[in-house]
Formats: sequence, structure tokens, C-alpha cells
Amino acid sequence: MVAAVFASGLRSCFSFFLILLFALPVTAVWPAPKNFTKGTSVLYIHHALQITYNGEPLPYTHGYRPRELTSKEVVQAGVSRALGSIFDSKFVPWKLHKPGSRFEPDVDQGLKWLSKLEIVQTAEDRPSAFKPLAGEVDESYSLTVSAEGAAKLTAASSIGILRGLETFSQLFYQHSTGTFWYTPYAPVAVEDAPRFPHRGVLMDTARHFFPVDDILRTIDAMAWNKLNRLHIHVTDSQSWPLVLPSMPEVSAKGAYHPSQTYSPADIDDIQRYGAARGVEVYFEIDMPGHIGVVALSHPELIVAYNELPYHWWCAQPPCGAFKLNSSAVDAFLERLFDDLLPRVAPYAAYFHTGGDELNKNDSMLDDGVRSNSSEVLQPLLQKFIDAQHARVRKAGLTPVVWEEIPLEWNVTIGTDTVVQAWLGGESVKKLTEKGLKVIDSNYNYWYLDCGRGQWLNWDNGAAFQLGFPFNDWCNPTKNWRLVYAHDPVAGLTPEQAALVLGGEVAMWSETIDPTNFDTLLWPRASAAGEVLWSGRIDPATGQNRSQLEAAPRLNEFRERMVLRGVRSSPVQMTFCTQGKPEECEYAP
Ligand SMILES: *[C@@H]1O[C@H](CO)[C@@H](O)[C@H](O)[C@H]1NC(C)=O
Ligand SMILES: *[C@@H]1O[C@H](CO)[C@@H](O)[C@H](O)[C@H]1NC(C)=O
Ligand SMILES: *[C@@H]1O[C@H](CO)[C@@H](O)[C@H](O)[C@H]1NC(C)=O
Ligand SMILES: *[C@@H]1O[C@H](CO)[C@@H](O)[C@H](O)[C@H]1NC(C)=O
Ligand SMILES: *[C@@H]1O[C@H](CO)[C@@H](O)[C@H](O)[C@H]1NC(C)=O
Ligand SMILES: *[C@@H]1O[C@H](CO)[C@@H](O)[C@H](O)[C@H]1NC(C)=O
Repeated sequence: MVAAVFASGLRSCFSFFLILLFALPVTAVWPAPKNFTKGTSVLYIHHALQITYNGEPLPYTHGYRPRELTSKEVVQAGVSRALGSIFDSKFVPWKLHKPGSRFEPDVDQGLKWLSKLEIVQTAEDRPSAFKPLAGEVDESYSLTVSAEGAAKLTAASSIGILRGLETFSQLFYQHSTGTFWYTPYAPVAVEDAPRFPHRGVLMDTARHFFPVDDILRTIDAMAWNKLNRLHIHVTDSQSWPLVLPSMPEVSAKGAYHPSQTYSPADIDDIQRYGAARGVEVYFEIDMPGHIGVVALSHPELIVAYNELPYHWWCAQPPCGAFKLNSSAVDAFLERLFDDLLPRVAPYAAYFHTGGDELNKNDSMLDDGVRSNSSEVLQPLLQKFIDAQHARVRKAGLTPVVWEEIPLEWNVTIGTDTVVQAWLGGESVKKLTEKGLKVIDSNYNYWYLDCGRGQWLNWDNGAAFQLGFPFNDWCNPTKNWRLVYAHDPVAGLTPEQAALVLGGEVAMWSETIDPTNFDTLLWPRASAAGEVLWSGRIDPATGQNRSQLEAAPRLNEFRERMVLRGVRSSPVQMTFCTQGKPEECEYAP
């Protein structure tokens, strides 16, 4: 409304001065490309833009869905999404300019059009392109848009093409007339490639269930952020939403409600949706702790389920762990993995077997063990991990575990195994010193559920006094600036840093469900996304990236996310998004 009013005034009165007064546009594109040069010429884009893919015409069909996971289908759907974002978002960027400033080009002047988008994939996709191990798919691309109106996007893989199409889409705005779309940045030249191959989000569907649509929307937003791994922590002691056709009783008894489940078709849809967007969806069944809910269908396999006081047995209620010396547990896991792994393996390279926070006391309640001593438990755990990882490998998958398995329990794991670090401190250093591959989720920076208070209740009296003011264990909140400050390879030698595959932000869902998920994840995951795609160090300065440089781009990208249907929180108040960076800078 506001934009429309002043734009029409603008067109009638100031046409001539527009070119002169045309404000310097904010720098588009999140995450920052490796090398990005741009000009100040305006190019308009229309629906009938001529598009080719390796020389063949590629028609733009609105809402095109890939019929199968082939390079051409994936690219065609990517083109449809990129152009859809440009034409459907209605992104008139008034929030990024001072009120009354003249930021739009004059549509009454002769319009210069972008006439073609030439897409060239320089190599054939390898079979692993849609389920890569870290580093197996080349995500780099180059993009040029000439001032004369020709765009060219080149990449070695269809996934690289998708990354470039996303960048392309972020160059455009809608004009407030409502019928024109333009970029003010021509000519553009982008050379881009990711700093880390594993750039992820952890979603927890056990504390709260998330319907399939929420997961698909998250995959879309991840792809806009060039994030490429969705780790679904699908089960935990609280609930088991995963339907296992070979053992339907597990979800029948373990889900919160029959409606709160994922069928095999749901899992398939989620993974294929991700694969077509360059987002590999992989699953975690956390064990041997964090699995108490199996007691509801198979009580003979579990110890300490819902045991009280919970903190003697586990980190949060309800407790429950697998018996560590039980052939029945082994038979159950054989069946579980025979059912699940062949279904997820076509679309994932990884399977996460958990392994965090196993409490030594649990095996005190296990008739087959009756001990809480490390000397007794460690060999049992080694055997347990060996057996499960052998199953994961047999299914063609690579195991992932939480850091406690090698660091706290001294379990020996294969060097193929990826270790997810979360405890911060020296964890990443210790793991890489052992030659292990790491993804970092340091809770001091990248646990996005933190800092919103306790979810346990504290009765009046001593408990109330003890708990007051009811902060959670990982207080405070990880503001985007703190998320952005984390460098997973800070303080490592080059050899150690080379073992860091990347990282994941975590959204543990004790107090997160579909109503607040988007606002808590975005734009903070975008901040981690830029660290993982572009690196913490800005190659232009050799210094850490600055909040002052990042904030205007993040403000802009946040608007794009909201207009594309994801309720990202604001980065700054509108006064700041409309102002110059120094107007909202704290300078001591
Ligand atoms: C970035 O691109 C510009 C223009 O193509 C080029 O002159 C410059 O050398 C590039 N810089 C880097 C670091 O690649
Ligand atoms: C194990 O249980 C005892 C009480 O029997 C408790 O004092 C101790 O803190 C518990 N250990 C852990 C690691 O929770
Ligand atoms: C494990 O169970 C077997 C027999 O079921 C028993 O012989 C063995 O002592 C147990 N191991 C431990 C560490 O308790
Ligand atoms: C093992 O159990 C004993 C007896 O309950 C307890 O005192 C001790 O704290 C426990 N050890 C651990 C590591 O939890
Ligand atoms: C693992 O090794 C460390 C360092 O040698 C030791 O402190 C710790 O007790 C060991 N843990 C187990 C479970 O054996
Ligand atoms: C850059 O940030 C990292 C952490 O992200 C920190 O360890 C390092 O000291 C910072 N470097 C400079 C020069 O500020």
C-alpha cells in the first residue's frame, strides 16, 4: 500500500531524476557467494523468458514437480521454483529503504529485458548425486547476467544448478506497479562453492510430532538457504511416530496418537522431496538410551522406562534404555533395521544410531548385567555399536553417532563413521585428533531450542527456590549473532579442520511444535547456513564476517522467506532494516 502510493507519485513527478536518485540497492543474496560482482543496471524479467538446459528448450511451467529423480526433471522443477519465487512473492522491498526514498526503477522509461537464461550442466550426474556422502556432489556453480539481458548458469551437477537458480532468484524484486519484476544489479557475475559439504538442520519429531507438510516446508526453506542435510531424530523415549510394517505394534503403542505417525509412504515422500531439492534427509534412531518408548510394545527389551526420580536414570523423563546384554534386543534391532534401512537407503547416504547421554545406572536394573561400572559396561556397548554399525553398513549406509560413543565411552568406531559433536569445548578437537570425521552442533551456539526456560514444573517451597528463575540447561537464547559467531574449525590445525564435514543446528522439540517451529528456526538457521556455505572468514577481508555487513542481507532474505511462506522471525525492527547499518550499530 505505502509502496504503491509513493511509487505512483514517483512515476508522475520524478521520472527524470529517478536515474540519479535511484538509491544504492542493498546487497542481495544469502548466503554470501564466494565471489559476487554486480553493477547498477536494471533488467526486467518476464514469464516468457527463453530458457535452455544443455541447449534444449526448458519450458517454465508454474508449480512443476519432478516426475522422477533425473537431472532434467530436477533442473526443470528447480527453474519452476526459482521463477515462481520471483513472480509469486510480491517482494517490493520498501522495508529495505528509507521511507520516501526512491528505490524503484522507472517503468515509464524504455525497459531492458532479460531475454534468456542458458543453463549448462558440464558433467553427467553421478548415481550418488541425490544421496551423496559429504563432498560427493559438486555444488559449485557460476552465474552471469549481462547488462544486455543474457543470463548463463553453469555447474557440474544438477545440484549445483539448483544452488545457482536460488542465487538467481534472489537478484529480483517486484515493482510496486505489481506487473513488473526487475533486478537492479546487472551486470552480475557469481562464482560460488560451499565451504563445508554437510550443512544441516536437526528436527526432533519425538518430543513433538510434526506433520509431513511442516517437514516439506522446512526442506524448501533449507534449500533457499543452501542447506543440504535434514537430520530427523525420529524417535525418542517420549514417542515413536515411525510405522514399521514388520512390527506395527511399536508405533501403534508408541505414537502419541494414531494420527501422529509417519507411514512408509510419508518417509518416501519426505526423502524424495528433499532429494529433488538437494537436501538429503537422513534418520536417527537414538540408542541404546533415549529409546524408553519401546517398553510400551516390548517391555522385555527396556530398562528404567519412566523410572523416578528421572535424573538418576537419564537426562529427562521418561527414561528408558535398551538392555545391553540381551539377544532379544539384538533380534529386535535386526528386524527393525531389515525393515527400515532398505527403505531409506535409496535417498540417503547416512543413518544415525544416536548414542548420547547413556546413563550408567540403567544397567543396574538389567538382570543380564546388574552393574553401573564402566569396566563392565564399556565392552557391552562396544559390542552393541559394532553390531548396529555392521547392519548400517550392510544396507549401504554410513553410520553417524553422537560424540559420547568415542569420547566418553571410548568405543572404537570405524573411520567411515561420522561423529556429531554437541558438547562444545574441546570436543571437535579431540575427535579430529583421533582422525574421526565430525559434524558440529556445539550447543553453546547451534542449539536453537535453548534459552526459553524450563519445561519441567517446580512445586512451591524448596523446589521453587531451587529452580527460580526457571532457566533451561542451555540458557541463554542463541541469537542469530551468536549463531553467526561460531566457526566449527576455529583453533584447529588444517589437518584437523579437513575432517570437519560441517555442522547442524538443532531444534530439540520439548516446547516446539508446528506453531512456533518456523519462527525459532529462521532466520537463525540462515546464520549458521552462511557460516557453513560461505565460511566464517570473509575472503574479501581475511577477517571474520561482520554483523554489519550481514544484517542488511539477512534482513532482505528474511523478507523473501516470509513472502515464500515461512514465518521467519524478524532480524531487526523496521527502523533498522530501512536505515543505514551504522544507525543500528552499537559502537562502544
Ligand atoms: C571475482 O570476480 C571478479 C570479476 O569476475 C574478478 O576480477 C576477481 O578476480 C574475482 N575474485 C576472486 C577472489 O575470485
Ligand atoms: C545413579 O544413581 C545414584 C542413586 O542410586 C545417584 O546418586 C547417581 O547420581 C546416579 N548416577 C547418575 C550418573 O545419574
Ligand atoms: C551377558 O550375558 C551372558 C549370558 O546371557 C553372561 O554369560 C554374561 O556374563 C553377561 N555379561 C555381563 C557383562 O553381564
Ligand atoms: C553406581 O551405583 C551406586 C549405588 O547406587 C551409586 O552410589 C553410584 O553413584 C553409581 N555410579 C554412577 C557412575 O552412577
Ligand atoms: C575413557 O578414557 C578416558 C581417558 O583415558 C577415561 O578417563 C574414561 O574413564 C574412559 N571411559 C570408559 C567408559 O572407559
Ligand atoms: C573469529 O571468530 C572465531 C570464532 O568464530 C574466533 O575463534 C576468532 O578468534 C575470531 N577471529 C578474530 C580475528 O576475531
